[in-house]
Amino acid sequence: MTAAIQCNHASKSFRESVRNTENAGSDHNGQRALGRIVDFVMPSRVTVEAVKDVSFEVERGEIFGILGPNGSGKSTLIRMISTLLIPDSGTVRVFGRDVVADRLEVRRYINRVSVEAAFFKKLSAMENLEYAARLYGLEPREGLRRAREILARLGFPDSKVNVSLENLSRGMQQKVAIARALMTAPVALLLDEPTTGLDPVSKRDVQDFVLEVCNTHDTTVILTTHDMEEADRLCDRIAVINNGEFVAVDSPENLKDRYANGNGHLPTLEEVFFRLTGRSPDEWEIEGDDQ
Ligand SMILES: Nc1ncnc2c1ncn2[C@@H]1O[C@H](COP(=O)(O)OP(=O)(O)OP(=O)(O)O)[C@@H](O)[C@H]1O
Ligand SMILES: [Mg+2]
Repeated sequence: MTAAIQCNHASKSFRESVRNTENAGSDHNGQRALGRIVDFVMPSRVTVEAVKDVSFEVERGEIFGILGPNGSGKSTLIRMISTLLIPDSGTVRVFGRDVVADRLEVRRYINRVSVEAAFFKKLSAMENLEYAARLYGLEPREGLRRAREILARLGFPDSKVNVSLENLSRGMQQKVAIARALMTAPVALLLDEPTTGLDPVSKRDVQDFVLEVCNTHDTTVILTTHDMEEADRLCDRIAVINNGEFVAVDSPENLKDRYANGNGHLPTLEEVFFRLTGRSPDEWEIEGDDQ
């Protein structure tokens, strides 16, 4: 059977424009005008290899985590899978459909949540969700019922459902983004830091909801997070990405087993992450430490 999501040697680079701000300009005596900051008009061009030759498959119903430091390429990868970025080379397929050639079909399979979620900021949470319900083809009354149910489930305050989004806290906006992605039972969910900025209780609510959706609808999930406990709790398998490259792909248990030492000390996922990304805190250098 075809894997739900397949990345085959996918790569993506960006030409990053850099603004040079220099202490430039001189007075009529040829001396530097101190304190005058002038923007360079000509930007220098730097190429960033955001994702380098990444290959992996996610099975239907699997929750696949992507962990990596800031700027390691997680969002770029998610954006390629969700058809928002075109890979420079390699292929990405969702249920056998190519993200470039069959873009619209792929979009029908996928719901995505990201921190920079696009909304009508002047409209309220409820209005945004009603709009989404219409797009998904839900009957209006059913859409309303579903929106209320999910918001309540995520602990979104009832008193805020009619407040325009621009007047909501970041965490509340994040909940609306999650609610929108779960208005229908999606075939594939791409969650780019879904719980970043949420309080601990809300985090739990979201995690439980994701698990429930997966268990009841066999939804395939790709999730990025900086929360190691969350990854450990939710993910069937985890990929660790560093500088655009996958440095490990395995179940959380196997990843920890890899770095178990002879004294029976099983590292936490965080310790494994430090090891794999070369960001070891000093104390982590001490092998066999019981801390
Ligand atoms: N549109 C863009 N134009 C230029 N460079 C980009 C663009 N998007 C991402 N990059 C660069 O690509 C690299 C990977 O960025 P990406 O957003 O994928 O990282 P990330 O792993 O999601 O990081 P974070 O944990 O901070 O969300 C970074 O060096 C970033 O500066
Ligand atoms: Mg990101």
